[in-house]
Order: sequence, then structure tokens, then C-alpha cells
Amino acid sequence: MSAVHRVELRWRDGRTETIAVRGDETVLDAAGREGVSLPFGCLTGACATCAGQLLAGRVEHRRPPRALKERHLADGYVLLCVAEPRTDCRLRVGSDVQAELVSNPWR
Ligand code: FES
Repeated sequence: MSAVHRVELRWRDGRTETIAVRGDETVLDAAGREGVSLPFGCLTGACATCAGQLLAGRVEHRRPPRALKERHLADGYVLLCVAEPRTDCRLRVGSDVQAELVSNPWR
């Protein structure tokens, strides 16, 4: 049986929720199971609607996070529809995180 990790979700307005996420499920799936709604679209790593940013801990993408560029990955952005936790984590979530990915195309 895979390990369960505590994942703290943090919104821009300061709200936080801590959910339990198994190592073989995605953060988005676990949030849905626990009644926490997060934005999503394609569910395949292609659109970035579900983007979050890792503040602490480690996740692995179960499918290639095609919607993220190398610089996004380097800055800790992750796609919650395909991200499985490998440790306890803290993540920024909410639609404003996705907006950051496109707000500065020249960077
Ligand atoms: S929902 Fe489209 S990348 Fe996650």
C-alpha cells in the first residue's frame, strides 16, 4: 500500500486546507475526494488550468507536464491533475497561479 502524505493547500486569500493524498493518486483527485474544489480542465497535463506551485516537499508528475515550460518547473510550478506527492507538501493553489504562467511571456 502506498504511503499517505499530508498536503497543505494555500490560496491567495490566506485560506488553507490540509488533505491526505496517497502516493499513487493525484493531488487533484484527493482534493476532490475530500470535497475541496480546485480548478481543472483537461486532466492530462496539457492545459495548466490546475497549476499549483510547490512551496515545500516533492511531487512527481505521473504523465509529462506538457503545459509547463522548463522555467516553470524550475520555479516549482506543478500540474495538480498529474502530480503525485512523494513527501508531505505545501502548495499554492487557485486560478491566480495559472495566471502567473502566462502573465509574463518575455521572461
Ligand atoms: S487540468 Fe489540464 S493540465 Fe491539469
